[in-house]
Amino acid sequence: MASVTGLEGVIAAETELSLVDGQNGNLVYRGYEAKELALHKSFEETAYLLWYGSLPSQETLNEFKAQWVAGRTLPATLESVLDLLPNESDMMSILRTAISVLGTGDNTQSAWPPSDKAIIAYTALLPTIIAYKYRQSRGLSPIAPHTDLDHVANYLYMLTGEIPQPSHVKVLTAYFILAMEHGMNASTFAGRVVLSTQSDLASALCASIGAMKGPLHGGAPSEVLHMLDEIGSKDRAEEYLRNQLASGKRLMGFGHRIYKTNDPRAEALRRIMTELSSEDPWFELAVHVEKTAVDLLAVYKPGRNLYVNVEFYAAAVMRAIELPPHLFTASFTASRMVGWTAHLLEQASCNRIFRPQSTYIGELPVSLRQ
Ligand code: ACO
Repeated sequence: MASVTGLEGVIAAETELSLVDGQNGNLVYRGYEAKELALHKSFEETAYLLWYGSLPSQETLNEFKAQWVAGRTLPATLESVLDLLPNESDMMSILRTAISVLGTGDNTQSAWPPSDKAIIAYTALLPTIIAYKYRQSRGLSPIAPHTDLDHVANYLYMLTGEIPQPSHVKVLTAYFILAMEHGMNASTFAGRVVLSTQSDLASALCASIGAMKGPLHGGAPSEVLHMLDEIGSKDRAEEYLRNQLASGKRLMGFGHRIYKTNDPRAEALRRIMTELSSEDPWFELAVHVEKTAVDLLAVYKPGRNLYVNVEFYAAAVMRAIELPPHLFTASFTASRMVGWTAHLLEQASCNRIFRPQSTYIGELPVSLRQ
């Protein structure tokens, strides 16, 4: 039987993008605490910081935002392909297909190394793709992007056709910034591996989206919602969670490879959500479930240091602003596009192909046995 390490503890690259400090529960983007950026900066400003290494001046930010607005319109070829995809397809498969389509035809977008022009265009377009297919699946006509709204507000606008409430934009922006970048997680690593072969941007992003889709990574928030719906009320929480753990099931939204203490993103979101939803019984239930689950995990999984992770409160944010659960992972993807692409630029700037080794533990032919 092979011992499974999941590359734990292996350093795969040096990065200037983020520090994920799992012992002390800190997350830093290029010298700034992510939780401060989440409260005080826009999505576009933080993306600029990750891509270019410093916060933009007002003049640069204005020019930068104009590039995002220009990138929001769905190309006709992609629109025709989206129309062909079944409405019941899951949104992550739609995004993977859409990025693949964007990677065909236009040489400037498939060239090595990836250009920042292409990276902005892909990132700006992702919410339009989600909103287009979401509305189509509900029999609704598409809403054209709003040129006066920022990236996050425009996403909500394209989903509903209404100018979103400022409190909803604030909380979703905070979540998007906190989820934007996170070191060498599975989806980022997958993208860097593909790009390290000098493959194109779209191929690398398709790999990242494929990794993000799994329930152990970006697929967790809708499972959190499902768990909380099943629990239903505070008095049922302990029994439900005990049953899950006693039968060997994992609690979604808990545990992390790096954080062996509270995930700072979950803490920041809990605080922001407390302001928005302090009176909401569902949010009170979520806080109660977190506390009960952490206590029980210490009993059922002693020494594993299992705490709440970002996905638990991501579910709370997205539920509070009434995003449908089947858009949770795609929304996370719309934000993580920035981190992925920042890593792809970094990979291209100092590229060497990834090529780890494996240890053969199978049979040897008789001729090779000693
Ligand atoms: N519930 C119950 N037990 C858990 C959980 C959990 N959520 N997470 C880990 N454990 C247990 C494992 O069963 C294992 O127990 P064992 O030693 O008795 O076998 C031990 O803790 C270590 O688990 P690993 O799977 O080795 O931890 P790993 O670092 O590989 O996994 C992961 C990290 C995938 C996040 C895991 O904690 C998990 O499955 N969590 C639930 C899914 C989830 O919330 N994912 C979102 C993560 S955040 C993100 O991707 C953005």
